[in-house]
Amino acid sequence: MKKMIAALGVTAMVGSVPAYAGEVEVLHWWTSGGEAAALNVLKEDLQGKGVSWQDMPVAGGGGENAMTVLRARVSANNAPTAAQMLGFDIQDWGAQGAAANLNDVAAAEGWDSVVPAALQAFSKHDGKWVAAPVNVHSTNWVWANKKIFDELNLSVPSNFEEMAAAMDKMKAAGYTPLAHGGQAWQEATIFDSVVLATGGVDFYKKALIDLDAGALSGATMVKVFDRMATLRSNVDENFSGRDWNLASAMVIEGKAGMQIMGDWAKGEFLNAGQKPGEDFLCFRFPGTQGAVTFNSDQFVMFKIGSDRQAAQGELAKAIMAPSFQSAFNVVKGSVPARTDVPNDAFDDCGKKGMKDLAEANSSGKLLGSLAHGHAAPASVKNAMYDVVTAHFNGEFSSAEAAEELASAVAAAQ
Ligand code: GAL
Repeated sequence: MKKMIAALGVTAMVGSVPAYAGEVEVLHWWTSGGEAAALNVLKEDLQGKGVSWQDMPVAGGGGENAMTVLRARVSANNAPTAAQMLGFDIQDWGAQGAAANLNDVAAAEGWDSVVPAALQAFSKHDGKWVAAPVNVHSTNWVWANKKIFDELNLSVPSNFEEMAAAMDKMKAAGYTPLAHGGQAWQEATIFDSVVLATGGVDFYKKALIDLDAGALSGATMVKVFDRMATLRSNVDENFSGRDWNLASAMVIEGKAGMQIMGDWAKGEFLNAGQKPGEDFLCFRFPGTQGAVTFNSDQFVMFKIGSDRQAAQGELAKAIMAPSFQSAFNVVKGSVPARTDVPNDAFDDCGKKGMKDLAEANSSGKLLGSLAHGHAAPASVKNAMYDVVTAHFNGEFSSAEAAEELASAVAAAQ
């Protein structure tokens, strides 16, 4: 029916079917159960406006594979309408001139006054809006199985030593303490938290954002790697290559006690019918309370033919609508990318996420996630991934890893 309407160029509403308003092709890496459920909220929202959805999923958490496919598409002169993207990558595409200018829709909808400056720094290139931010995630979270915590009489650890003691108890009781998937981006996600917990906010900034060689190679970083090794000794033997959502499933099913992961993990727990506070616990990685390592999924709109631009504008508008930002982020596990969205529809973890974000923002403790592209450009991020993963897999001692980190970052710049 929709196709027929399109073919006829009919614009009026036919019964309850909205008039065809074009098509968007969207490239993304939201392929897990929880992610797909969240993406559905966007698809349905657009379909309700007559915009049809052409899906272009590229599996792989953190989006590395998606970025490879995107580069191939754009070089072949076949850019999608929009692509999910993180931080510094957005700026790269802005600099290359491939991104559309969204200033008109941004001005009409008042984006400037509702999107936090920390996000606008990535959404705008050269004063032009090139991306619509759909959420704010953060990486310094732990997702825990409540039954296991209750059974072992554990309380939420407040520092790394307590975390280590809790893991010892879990191991002794026959559980895998840490559900983990051995992929570079997942190790880097843990690294975000461990750097922040071990060195604090100033150290995180110095090492991962300012890329200070002394901070990257010094004694604090050696301690960071020692702690990474402690965590490594608490994963199961089949961790290599496991997808993050399968690691979440280990916690959901009561095989593992905890997962250190961004709040997209909450989407998996919810998708499995679990409830925060009843079935699972969410808490900040011990020692990072008060600070937030954030990443924001944004949709970069590409320069495309004029026949497709109206639907593209609808997509940008839909993503930023307050009611959509609430509905989507409730399912995704993230929090809204606008400051004016009420928290009523969010569960306790979501409410905490919103409160933590606002507090970290006003106290100067809101930090871009290295693992998810908001601390340093892709070349530096990838160099760090390599060293963190090599150490996790036993290739370097902690002291060697810190040395390697400083030299890999220097070479990548
Ligand atoms: C992150 C992204 C999240 C989630 C996660 C795992 O980079 O920001 O939305 O998709 O990867 O796929």
